[in-house]
Amino acid sequence: MSSSLRKLSHGGMIGPCASSNGSNGTNGSISNGNGHPKSTDLGKFGNLENPYNFEIISESAQYIKDRMNIKPEIAIICGSGLGSLADTITDKVEFPYEEIPHFPVSTVAGHAGKLVIGHLSNVPVICMQGRFHFYEGYPIWKCSMPVRVFKLLGIKLMIVTNAAGGLNPNYSIGDVMILKDHINLPGFSGINPLCGRNDERFGLRFPPLNKAYDKSLRTIAKEVAKELKIDHFFQEGVYTMVGGPTYETVAELRAMKLFGIDAVGMSTVPEVITASHCGIKCFGFSLITNVCITDFDAEEEASHEEVVETAHMRQNDLKEFVTRLVPHFEKQIQRS
Ligand code: HPA
Repeated sequence: MSSSLRKLSHGGMIGPCASSNGSNGTNGSISNGNGHPKSTDLGKFGNLENPYNFEIISESAQYIKDRMNIKPEIAIICGSGLGSLADTITDKVEFPYEEIPHFPVSTVAGHAGKLVIGHLSNVPVICMQGRFHFYEGYPIWKCSMPVRVFKLLGIKLMIVTNAAGGLNPNYSIGDVMILKDHINLPGFSGINPLCGRNDERFGLRFPPLNKAYDKSLRTIAKEVAKELKIDHFFQEGVYTMVGGPTYETVAELRAMKLFGIDAVGMSTVPEVITASHCGIKCFGFSLITNVCITDFDAEEEASHEEVVETAHMRQNDLKEFVTRLVPHFEKQIQRS
C-alpha cells in the first residue's frame, strides 16, 4: 500500500479533494500526516468529493477477503440498539473497523464498530455492527463507504435496519416499519453520497431510485412477519433521514408530515443510495422507538434513552425476524 493511501485509514476526516482516478489533488497527498487535509488540498468539490476511489475500496475488500473463509451473499447493517443481531451469527470471523485499511471508525456509544462474517440460518452473511452517521462529522460519502466494500466482496443484497421516530399517527412505539421508500432530505441541499466524480465501475452517473426498496423482498418480509405472528406490529411506509444530532422541531416534523413521511431517523439513506448505485438490492426496516412530537404544547421530549430502551425491548423479535428472513432472501437472490 502506498503511504499516501495508508493515510486514509483509521478515523479522522479524509481530505476532500482526491479524485476518483487516483490522483490526490495538487501535490499527490491526501493528508498532512495528522489526518487533516492540507489547505492546498481543499479542491473545488470541497466536502462533496469522495476520495475513496475504486483502488482504495479494493484494498479494504482485499484485506477482508484474505482473512475470511466463506463468501458472504447478504450484508446486514445493524441500527441503534440492534447490534445484538450479530450475536446470532455462527462460525464468526470479526474485523474491528480500526483493523480494516481505510475504514472509518464509529464514535457512537452502543455501536461496537466491527464487521462480523459468518452464517445466519446457514446463509453466509456479513454484518456491520455499528454504522457511520453524518452527525458524527463524517462526510456523507464516508457514511456509506462500507457498502462499496460489500460490493467488492460480492454482496448481492443488503438489509438495513435503524431506529426511527414515528410520525404517522397510526404508528406506536415498538412497531416495525418496512421501508417502502425514502426521502433524502439532506439531498435537497445537495448532500448525496454520489456527488462528485462518478466511477462507472460502481455504477451509473445518474442512477434511478424508484425501485430502491425491492418490492419482492418487501412481500417476503410481510409473509415472514405473518409466519412469526408478529405482523400486528408491522407497518410499511416512507422513511426520511435528517442530519441530526438534534431531534426535530415541531415545525420540521409538521413539514415532514406534509411530505408524506411516516418515520424519521438519522441514517440508512446514504447506504441505500450507494447500494442501489452499485446494483445491490435493498431491504430496510425501522424500529419505531419514539413518537414524534407534533404538538407545540406537548410536555414530552424526544430522548436517546427512550430509543435505546425500545430497541432493547424488541431485540429478540427482530433477531428472530432477520434470522428467518435471510434464507428466503437467499433464494430470491438465486432466482434473480
Ligand atoms: N428523530 C430522528 N432520529 C431518530 C428518532 C427521531 O425521533 N428516533 C430515533 N432516531
